[in-house]
Formats: sequence, C-alpha cells, structure tokens
Amino acid sequence: MAAIRLRVNGVAQSLDIDPATPLLWALRDHLGMTGTKFGCGIAQCGACTVHLNGEATRSCQVPLESVANAEIVTIEGLAHHGGARLQTLWNELNVPQCGYCQAGILMAAADLLKKIPRPADADIDAAVSNICRCGTYPRVRAAIHRAALEPA
Ligand code: FES
Ligand code: FES
Repeated sequence: MAAIRLRVNGVAQSLDIDPATPLLWALRDHLGMTGTKFGCGIAQCGACTVHLNGEATRSCQVPLESVANAEIVTIEGLAHHGGARLQTLWNELNVPQCGYCQAGILMAAADLLKKIPRPADADIDAAVSNICRCGTYPRVRAAIHRAALEPA
C-alpha cells in the first residue's frame, strides 16, 4: 500500500494507512489534530469541516485516497490561512458555548467570507449550515457580520 501524500496547514504529510480511512480520522487519529470534531459521521452536522483545496468540506465523508496531493487547512491552521480576525471576534463576542461545534463553524464562516465578503443573513444560513446543539446561531451571525464590516 503506497503512502498518501497531502499538505496539512502548509506542512507535507505522508500517511501509510487504509486509503478508505475518512479524512477526519486521518487528521485526528494519525496526525493528532483533534480540533476537527466528529459529530454525526454522515455529512450533516458540519463539526468535521475543514478546507480541502480551499473549499469548506465535511471531512467525515471524504476518503483519504481522494485527497492525495490536496491542500488541507484545519482549525489548527486557520489563523495562518485568513481566519485570525474571525477567531478574535469569536472570542470578543463570546460566540461559543460548549464549543464542540465551533471549529467546524469557523471553517465554514471563513470559507463564506472569502467568497462573499459582505454576506446577508440568507448567505450565512446557506453557507454555515452547521448544527449547534447550544443554539449559538445568532452570535455566529453577529460575528460574521462584524468580520465583514471590520475585516482587520
Ligand atoms: S461529523 Fe461530519 S458532518 Fe457531522
Ligand atoms: S457551542 Fe455547543 S454545540 Fe455549538
């Protein structure tokens, strides 16, 4: 079995594991990047969202073999890939409650702002469809609007 190469947060990685392993578990169990969370395992909740070649992607349904040579950004690398302001605002506006879903939400929010710098509520609802058991949706919206108005 040939090792699968990819770049994670700008660092080259080589993984010699079952190529059917979901990217989520490759990141968490094999690379020790546990910021990306498991929620549903069926691409519904968004807890496992990472950026795959620049696109917000639910990593629980992505087999490792399909991301050979891909560029992955996880929550551990988001601050160095355009997400620092967003993370600061998340703290300032106390967006997280339990926090479990928030890494995935931040990844989705960063992707949205890259594509739509001044999103309307409907854009946010469409792009950040992550599930939050704590119901932080109003604060997520507020932080995204603030990031749009005050990008730095
Ligand atoms: S764990 Fe991947 S979408 Fe829920
Ligand atoms: S902050 Fe608790 S699940 Fe979202």
